Amino acid sequence: MQRINMAPLSSRGTGFFRTLLTRCRTPGPGQSRTPDRCRLSSLPSSPPPPGTWQQLSRLSHPDLYRLSVTDPDRFWGSAAADRLRWVEPFHRVRDCDLSSGRISWFVGGKLNVSVNCLDVHVEKHPDRVALIWERDEPGTEVKVTYRELLETTCRLANTLKSHGIQKGDRVAIYMPVSPLAVAAMLACARIGAVHTVVFAGFSSEALAGRIQDAGCKAVVTCNQGVRGARVIDLKSTVDAAVKSCPTVQHVFVSQRTQQPAAMGRLDVPLEEVMSRQSSVCPAEPLDSEDLLFLLYTSGSTGKPKGVVHTQAGYLLYTSLTHQYVFDYRDGDVFGCVADVGWITGHSYVVYGPLCNGATTVLFESTPVYPNPGRYWETVQRLRISQFYGAPTALRLLLKYDDSWVKKYDRSSLRTLGSVGEPINHEAWHWFHSVVGEGRCPLVDTWWQTETGGVCIAPRPAEEGAAIVPAMAMRPFFGIQPVLMGEKGEPLSGNSVSGALCISQPWPGMARSIYGDHQRFIDAYFKPYPGNYFTGDGAFRSEEGYYQITGRMDDVINVSGHRLGTAEIEDALDEHPAVPETAVIGIPHDIKGEVPFAFVVLKDDPGLDPPVVLQQLRNLVSTKIAKYAVPDHFLVVKRLPKTRSGKIMRRILRKVAMETTGDLGDVSTLDDPSVVKEIIEAHELYRKQKK
Ligand code: PRX
Repeated sequence: MQRINMAPLSSRGTGFFRTLLTRCRTPGPGQSRTPDRCRLSSLPSSPPPPGTWQQLSRLSHPDLYRLSVTDPDRFWGSAAADRLRWVEPFHRVRDCDLSSGRISWFVGGKLNVSVNCLDVHVEKHPDRVALIWERDEPGTEVKVTYRELLETTCRLANTLKSHGIQKGDRVAIYMPVSPLAVAAMLACARIGAVHTVVFAGFSSEALAGRIQDAGCKAVVTCNQGVRGARVIDLKSTVDAAVKSCPTVQHVFVSQRTQQPAAMGRLDVPLEEVMSRQSSVCPAEPLDSEDLLFLLYTSGSTGKPKGVVHTQAGYLLYTSLTHQYVFDYRDGDVFGCVADVGWITGHSYVVYGPLCNGATTVLFESTPVYPNPGRYWETVQRLRISQFYGAPTALRLLLKYDDSWVKKYDRSSLRTLGSVGEPINHEAWHWFHSVVGEGRCPLVDTWWQTETGGVCIAPRPAEEGAAIVPAMAMRPFFGIQPVLMGEKGEPLSGNSVSGALCISQPWPGMARSIYGDHQRFIDAYFKPYPGNYFTGDGAFRSEEGYYQITGRMDDVINVSGHRLGTAEIEDALDEHPAVPETAVIGIPHDIKGEVPFAFVVLKDDPGLDPPVVLQQLRNLVSTKIAKYAVPDHFLVVKRLPKTRSGKIMRRILRKVAMETTGDLGDVSTLDDPSVVKEIIEAHELYRKQKK
């Protein structure tokens, strides 16, 4: 595949950029820092000339930020033209209208994501290590070079093709972190199929729901997974799932362990079939806005939504954030310990690092296997440069003696990162001073499945600028955060809290919810017309930095995993003895939050509540996943409802958190005596727990 350069805009060549570089230089003391210094008013939205990004990237980070928001076409256009390899150039940088949910980037361009993640690097350094598979058993890591990963991807792509998978078909991937999982994602990208990775901890029903919603034609899985020395049977979960998925024509089964899997009518032994395929597979040229993947995530209704990401914008955004937020440099070993089943794994284990030609770590194990030094022993052995993980794991690890960290050499570390949930001060300081010896910048990165990549993080910043502990701080290039007040008005000034929105489109943002574009518009663009609503609240500090204050909807975050309380309620409501439930999240010192279920049982003297509660636990586990099972079940006679029938969750939260001293206004309750009833039930529950 050849690189096709953009046609230069003849009259605005280097001279123009010289001017731009001069105009955007960091202002001196007392000089204005308003974005208008970089405003380039009358430029068309056509792609900038080649080589522009190299020039722009010499600007200081604050100047780059200013340019990205004052002239997004030029900023993103030059980054896309120079950082990605195109089969056909795009003719328009963006065509977006947030009020109607129309988002299109790099219009008219064609490219292939797998080429950008593999072939371009194989041409330059085929033997560079692309993946280090840090397998469950320490010291058994497997290294995969870019050449090997390309060959495996091509064999897998040819396998999919030879089984009738074509451009646009959806393929579910139900695998733990492994080189084959990465190759399966890239193989889909190579032929234009759309992958949907389902976290291998989800139950067969949850998997089936996602396969059905996406209409998947095939599933890629393995016989078993191994985590913390525990063997998890994946194939039987897939078998149970596909029984209710008539669209699935093939299940490709790879062998993670020696245990043979029972093979049925749909099953294809993956390694065996791949070995007969060619290691060369031409890459499908894809439109910038063709679908790259769907990733299901929780919202405020019971049904998870298939967040749609497309090709060029997503790839560019993950590669740019990977480089700038983590200060990635050529030759670094990038260690993001997330699972590929989540967006963090997609963006910072696979696409961002591979697009940048990095060596990326695939962490199969747990933070405490075989002991609480596992992460840091891995850092020492693999010489990891960036370590990116979740606060829940840090909160767990800081409870152990610091010697578990200090006995390992962490001198290779340069940047530490945290993601997925608020990081508390204790965890931040422990990570920064014990793990990072106080010398590595620690970036608290805020983003979402829907944003595609990091949107708010302390880096990039002015050279040497201090990081405020436990704060996401600064918007990334192109991100314009806005805080909205209770009446939907944008809040100006600092020291204010509001609903966090983003007022301008950026290339990494989701494009739709699969099969339900209206839900996409309703959830993200209707609440604050013309803005993307994140669902989170935030505080803008006196210095103008952002602090995420948490979800504003009924989504909770359990061990960094996003979960809709409505999903749990839907699972519980399936029990015939349970007419009503309400689930809320309460704080937990390691998991961040845990679900707390209030359950109304049928008035039937024959019911045995402990038996029903066990059945409810099993229901959640089989309908969603084990991590979704509520930590607490409280049986109540009724729920607190307003006269219009709405459950007053605020009251339930106060009861569960034992802060009933100030219940606020309860005058709209249908029968306020319900509050006393629930408080008494909770007191009894507490006494019984002790
Ligand atoms: O509430 C925010 C929280 O996680 C949500 C997004 O979850 P998910 O789509 O699963 O993506 C997680 C990984 C990117 C957000 O709406 N969240 C994420 N990062 C942070 C955070 N909350 C506070 N601080 C963060 N750094």
